[in-house]
Amino acid sequence: MRYLIISDMHGNSDALAAVLDHVAGEELDAVLNLGDLVGYGASPNEVVEALDGLALPSHTVRGNHDKVAAGIDDGMGFNPTALTAARWTAEQLTAENLERVRALPQGPKQVDEGLVICHGSPFDEDYYLLSVFDAEDIFSTWKTPVTFFGHTHVPAAFASREGGGIEIEVLYGDEVKLELEVDYGVRYLINPGSVGQPRDRDPRAAYMIYDSEEQVVLLRRIEYPVGEAQERIIEAGLPRLLADRLALGY
Ligand SMILES: [Fe+2]
Repeated sequence: MRYLIISDMHGNSDALAAVLDHVAGEELDAVLNLGDLVGYGASPNEVVEALDGLALPSHTVRGNHDKVAAGIDDGMGFNPTALTAARWTAEQLTAENLERVRALPQGPKQVDEGLVICHGSPFDEDYYLLSVFDAEDIFSTWKTPVTFFGHTHVPAAFASREGGGIEIEVLYGDEVKLELEVDYGVRYLINPGSVGQPRDRDPRAAYMIYDSEEQVVLLRRIEYPVGEAQERIIEAGLPRLLADRLALGY
């Protein structure tokens, strides 16, 4: 199977459209969506509808911003900017799209044998998996060979070798190829980065392709019209910071 893996679209329809355009010629079997469809960006309806209208089968889990926009979580853990955007999003979403966001399932979600997706971590959808120590905790009891997670907006791969330590690889560049060693008992926690609000100082949209037969993961970074996404945020009256950060990739 060849999977398109996307995460943290955050209401940025310009970035999502660029990703979907970029993979239009690819042979793909399914889409794995790691959550945070909305929040921050000014086009939540467009993002929800674009994802709902995909021709490919999709597996999706909800993100923390989806929960707040849908009224499942009160957002009291959010900073003021995030909360303002989540409340704005809740008002903007059509009744149908609000229902779609509310219906997104909680992760982790098993996609196939040995393949799971989640938003934060397999044990807590709101957890920020950032360090080797975080990964070590998870690997000590989580035995799934390949798990994709989002939430941090930073492309990275953690690998656990039997009898060995944890390796972390921060994935940076136009196209980064990872050859997985699942057949040798290595387990992985992999983050595709963010489509709509990258935070690794590279403002380009990030996504991955995972070929489960070849056991190859490709991270790609692509340009999209950042200025248009910024303009929509400013026109919507959302906090200016949300527009500024898109150009900085942070
Ligand atoms: Fe996010």
